[in-house]
Amino acid sequence: MRKVAIVGVGMSKFGEEWDRGFRDLIIDAGKKAIEDANLQGEKIDGLFAGTMAPGPLIGQEHAGALLADWMGLNPIASTRVEAACASGGVALRQGFMAIASGMHDCVVVGGVEKMTDVSGPDVVSALGGAGDQEWELFAGATFPGIYALMARRHMLEYGTTEEQMASVAVKNHFNAARNKYAQFQKEIDIKTVLNSKVVASPLKVFDCSPVTDGAACAVLMPLEKAQKICEQPVEIIASAQASDTLALHNRASLTEINATKVAAKKAFEMAKLSTKDINLAEVHDCFTIAEIMAIEDLGFFKKGKGAKATEDGLTSLKGEIPINTSGGLKGCGHPVGATGVKQAVEITWQLRGQAKERQIKDAQIGLTHNVGGSGATAVIHIMKKA
Ligand code: COA
Repeated sequence: MRKVAIVGVGMSKFGEEWDRGFRDLIIDAGKKAIEDANLQGEKIDGLFAGTMAPGPLIGQEHAGALLADWMGLNPIASTRVEAACASGGVALRQGFMAIASGMHDCVVVGGVEKMTDVSGPDVVSALGGAGDQEWELFAGATFPGIYALMARRHMLEYGTTEEQMASVAVKNHFNAARNKYAQFQKEIDIKTVLNSKVVASPLKVFDCSPVTDGAACAVLMPLEKAQKICEQPVEIIASAQASDTLALHNRASLTEINATKVAAKKAFEMAKLSTKDINLAEVHDCFTIAEIMAIEDLGFFKKGKGAKATEDGLTSLKGEIPINTSGGLKGCGHPVGATGVKQAVEITWQLRGQAKERQIKDAQIGLTHNVGGSGATAVIHIMKKA
């Protein structure tokens, strides 16, 4: 297997982008990533594009072909990758495998979603496709509702409080306010979260990631080549993915995501590292409770201790393990198919020392964690400064 490196990254501004369409967003991110890669004659020979629901959201299928066309990459092989909110992370893994195996020599990995062109109920219905349509959505469950069940159980089993969940949102809005690409640029306090309207009790508006338009891209090539053309390549030293039941009621536990635990174990084995070696992580905080479960399931904190750790500032920019320096899904926004790639963009900037106000000092190794649905897919990458 060849070693794989990220040589270029770029993203569009995340937010409610009324004046830009699906293709504008990916062209923006793709152009920035390709310029950043400074390819010097290397030919891009593959595109993997993560997008969850362009059909229901903008009436467009066959997104792989559309994106290659509009990015000016025809006639290269272009593949759409779908794994709900983990579409971007799984696309990154496809790109990693394509380079590692020798099938491709230079690929663009993209993620994109245009979510604000349809009404709120239509977005809820499109996102609902990430769960079990027959057993959950048909019975009236929404994604905030599904994560609310997990939050209630976590509160019951571990004494997690609404204030502690709110502290995830406060931290992630603080980080987002230091990221010019983020949807929300304003710091908030605990009261803002607690006083926001209830979406699915105990989750309130500010416990939820928003509805977002956006795209992110990365250019990958073999490390050996990358070291010749690129000043600061970032090596992907582990890529792991795992699955679980689609419906929540079939799980043994509501307070953990087993796919995350399995993928984390594989990723740490592949990288020959442990949690102690990780300097920062971008984790899947689609709801505040999701970040608490993620930092526990990844092994940064013991089960039941993630909420207190967040409240105590251990996951802040200056904490022992900074989590979601980009602002996460909560503050930076969550254009579902783009999120997994955006996480890799943020880690790349951090490892290159380009994260400005939110830069983590001496960052050498970072982790990304991207989840599909309520945890039926989890994909993890570990990256290091090459
Ligand atoms: N966090 C903070 N502020 C938010 C927000 C969020 N998640 N969602 C919306 N807002 C803000 C908007 O910016 C707007 O502010 P403004 O009045 O200052 O412009 C205001 O709240 C109203 O926005 P609106 O779009 O009308 O909100 P809404 O009530 O229709 O939607 C949610 C709020 C929480 C229901 C919606 O963001 C949502 O469904 N989020 C979850 C998405 C999801 O399930 N993703 C998949 C995860 S698996």
